[in-house]
Amino acid sequence: MRALQGRFETAVALATEAGALAMQMRAATTAALKGPQDWVTEADSAVERFLSERLAAAFPADGFQGEEGGVARGGSLRWVADPIDGTANYMRDGRRFCVSLACLEDRTPLIGVIVAPALGETYVARHGGGAMLNGTPIHVAETMALDRAVIEVGWSRRRPNQDFLALCEKLMAQGAILRLGGSGALGLAEVAAGRTDAYVELHINLWDVAAALALLAEAGAAVSPFLEGNGPTSGNPILACAPGVAGALSTLTGYAAR
Ligand code: IPD
Ligand code: CA
Repeated sequence: MRALQGRFETAVALATEAGALAMQMRAATTAALKGPQDWVTEADSAVERFLSERLAAAFPADGFQGEEGGVARGGSLRWVADPIDGTANYMRDGRRFCVSLACLEDRTPLIGVIVAPALGETYVARHGGGAMLNGTPIHVAETMALDRAVIEVGWSRRRPNQDFLALCEKLMAQGAILRLGGSGALGLAEVAAGRTDAYVELHINLWDVAAALALLAEAGAAVSPFLEGNGPTSGNPILACAPGVAGALSTLTGYAAR
């Protein structure tokens, strides 16, 4: 427990510093395409390097994996970072981006920190210790029906547009309002905070969801089993939602959220 407290405090401090670095680099950073509609900036690499180096110095035996550099170090206790989630917003001067940092033990998320510096928002969670937004405890919404639900749908080119549109169609047919905000980590964090009722995406990667999984578990969300099977290495679909709409959304999407 003592080791977890030290890691938690370090995670919050480093993610906050990383957020400040991202803000500082924004005006001068240049962007390149990794693939169609898949951007990377100099800031993504710099922030990831900062987190990797500082965590290696603080906890030399821990593993580290980031979106840009992959698995830098192995370990059953490992850090997973998305240096800038919402890169397409970041590079266009948008405010909806974040640094996402998680610590996992095997397949259990122990710590999750999401810092959105341009929004002035910091989400934190510790296994068994609750979830907070800017120091205030957060919980999922109490929504019970899809015709009152606000749902964020994540999009990437990793799955066919046809499948994405079919998903949107099904959700809208039930009367849900849809959102698409460009940051999976923040989209999931907002479910934990009760700002939306669900986040669903056909395929997403570990670095996008790792910190949010800790938040969602502590805030009482129902979540599909992202970390099962090959999820940690090659990604999985995700459904995270308020428990009151979990049954209906699980049936609709085919992803069982519990
Ligand atoms: C993407 C964003 C997006 C989600 C994608 C991610 P990036 O990450 O989180 O909202 O739908 O699955 O790849 O490119 O902004 O780091
Ligand atoms: Ca990402």
